[in-house]
Amino acid sequence: MTIKKPNILVIGSSNMDLIIEVPKLPKPGETIGSGTFFKKYGGKGANQAIAAQRAGGKTTFVTSLGQDQHGHELLAHYQREGLDTQFIKTSEKPTGVALINVSTENAQNSIAVASGANLDLTWDRYEMATICENQDYIIIQNEIPLNSIEELLKNAPKQIKIVYNPAPFFNISIEALRKVYILIINESEAEEIFKLDKVSTSDPELIKQISSLDIPKVVITMGAIGCYYWEKGDEKIGHIKGNKVNPKDTTGAGDTFCGYLTVCLAEGRDLEESIKISNLAASISILKIGAQESIPFRKDILENN
Ligand code: RIB
Repeated sequence: MTIKKPNILVIGSSNMDLIIEVPKLPKPGETIGSGTFFKKYGGKGANQAIAAQRAGGKTTFVTSLGQDQHGHELLAHYQREGLDTQFIKTSEKPTGVALINVSTENAQNSIAVASGANLDLTWDRYEMATICENQDYIIIQNEIPLNSIEELLKNAPKQIKIVYNPAPFFNISIEALRKVYILIINESEAEEIFKLDKVSTSDPELIKQISSLDIPKVVITMGAIGCYYWEKGDEKIGHIKGNKVNPKDTTGAGDTFCGYLTVCLAEGRDLEESIKISNLAASISILKIGAQESIPFRKDILENN
């Protein structure tokens, strides 16, 4: 069976990830030696765009790069991956950089980002209309200016489905949030949005809060526990277990999940099947150092491709 490639537009950040793998994460004021350095491609927007492309989407990536060595390297990488880069902007600011420590003890990380050029990712309504032409789905995250996100949520053409991953978390107006087709959040983002101390499927408050947002689909990624999910009209919150793996670096696992989930839904799969495939992709993406390095290709995880 040949499936038509869905048109996926990803709007978001690009970073060069400067990673040090250390025996354990340093505490404030502490220096940890004997680390190993890696320079890898990253940024939540870019990770999601690469995931959507490798999952089988025809992916357009809109981002802002500095006119520096990192910017040139990232643009060349996006072109090699086959992304449509025609709307990528350049900025006077330096390309975004993320300083990442990854612990060999438990694969946990700590990340500090200098957003640089990502802060210049803005557009007006007319430009957005051109960029959105022929797109089926848009994916956005929070590593670009809040105004740009609200502008997009309010004015994107109605026929395009919006996937919103509000990471890193900041508050956005309810009016803008209501334009979202699928909200993908992690445990701590869910606690912030729904004002809960703990996210639990048996908590009636969670389903009350989710339903009141009036978003068609909500997915909460719960790390090793797996995913909770809800669709408009559901009386219960579903749970799909995670895949057990021995992680090396969990950076970008959520981004891989978002890119894959969007393509699976755009191809007409139901939410449960889409989550299972995306969970598998995310669990493979944490087996190597680097956010994009081990994002799997469609042929590696989908039968019949
Ligand atoms: O989600 C992971 C990403 O967050 C990293 O690639 C890093 O660039 C930060 O933006």
